[in-house]
Amino acid sequence: MNIAVIGTGYVGLVSGVCYAQLGNQVVCVDKDPGKIGILNAGGIPIYEPGLREMASANRSAGRLTFTTDLAGAVRGSDIVILAVGTPPLPSGEANLAYIDQAACEIAEAMNGYKIVAVKSTVPVGTNERIARLIRSRTDQPFASISLPEFLREGSAIHDTLHPDRIVIGADCPSAGDTMVQLHRPLTERIVVTDIRSAEMIKYASNAFLATKISFINEIANICEKVGADVTRVAEGMGYDQRIGPAFLKAGIGYGGSCFPKDTHALIQIAGHVDYEFKLLRSVVEVNRDQRFNVIRKLEAIFNGELRGKTVAVWGLAFKPNTDDVRESPALEIIRHLVDHGAKVKAYDPVAMSNFRGLFGHGGGVIWCKDALETARGADALCLLTEWDEFARIDLGLLRQSLNRPILIDGRNVFHEESLLGTDFIYYSVGRPSLNQGAKEQMPVLQF
Ligand code: UDX
Repeated sequence: MNIAVIGTGYVGLVSGVCYAQLGNQVVCVDKDPGKIGILNAGGIPIYEPGLREMASANRSAGRLTFTTDLAGAVRGSDIVILAVGTPPLPSGEANLAYIDQAACEIAEAMNGYKIVAVKSTVPVGTNERIARLIRSRTDQPFASISLPEFLREGSAIHDTLHPDRIVIGADCPSAGDTMVQLHRPLTERIVVTDIRSAEMIKYASNAFLATKISFINEIANICEKVGADVTRVAEGMGYDQRIGPAFLKAGIGYGGSCFPKDTHALIQIAGHVDYEFKLLRSVVEVNRDQRFNVIRKLEAIFNGELRGKTVAVWGLAFKPNTDDVRESPALEIIRHLVDHGAKVKAYDPVAMSNFRGLFGHGGGVIWCKDALETARGADALCLLTEWDEFARIDLGLLRQSLNRPILIDGRNVFHEESLLGTDFIYYSVGRPSLNQGAKEQMPVLQF
């Protein structure tokens, strides 16, 4: 099939490359000539393992092109997939300006029947609004499709090529059939439904996953107080098929471009129909507070005084295998430390420049080049993103680097066995603290 994908952000670019990989003829469009320049030179403007290689193979095979010419791309395609951003407005609602603009440009370029599918995450009713916009600008026939995307950053290619399900919201059965054919090579589990339900599936799925995370984080907080181990609790819960093991990893809360945005947006969507989504409000509140789990531990260790302490931070991305720092808990944690007079040394294997861009270049943070340099001379080390590199660190060398052997593991990366024989004072999330062989008195945490 001939496909135009509008928007070369995460969703657009990965989807475009994967549709080409399936043997379709794909043109990816972006307004930003800088991005298209990078793509046409064989580069990739985002960090996603395996994407560059797959894009390059499909370009060489002549199935994948990149352009700023939206009109030309639309004219040459049967299916137009909208994958532009819907960033949050200050109110939490999704900003639909890019979607509206792209819809108008598509309408003006149309030269015959097109299927217009929306992959961007949009509030319920947006596909109908897009259809109205297009209809008001052209007499050409088209069908609207809602095509929500469930890929995760860092495993986006795998998620796209091996999805748990495909959801297709269609107002026209023949367009629905075409989309089923397009996705059939990926999975048998294709849910074809009405457009509003498809739009809702995306928000409901992300809200549910966010709920699982906040739930296990609250269980972890209780585990800390009652002396239980949340990893064993999650394991014991996860074997129940009705619960499942996924998204039960306690930590410092979720970040990224989707969960924070989509939970807020769903609260707003409910509010517009006079429904208060109380459960989801609590999920968001729990998540906002969970990052302070690390701060509370540091404050307890330093008797409430962060001023003058050197704190090393490992991990700035909102999760491993991505350079994305949007809504990363590290932003607020480091800001709090700096505002309270601590000297922060920070490091991430790939997200340093994005983080510095978002955090600003103010004082108080020393940006380091590797994990051990970051730890050197620190009074405590906080692990905020579970990169493999940190899990594999030589604990002997780490101990030598640190001024005090205090390790606060916000992602439960280390295990009791690996710390045996060391004098680390170790705090994790929802697990008993450890101080085997510690020369120092273990501070008693009370929060
Ligand atoms: C998410 C959804 O998984 C995906 O389906 C949707 O399309 C976009 O949003 P993504 O934001 O890339 O994907 O990351 P994901 O792997 O889901 O993790 C989100 C956040 O939750 C991360 O900050 C991660 O650290 C956190 N998380 C995840 C936990 O704290 N515990 C878990 O058990 C799982």
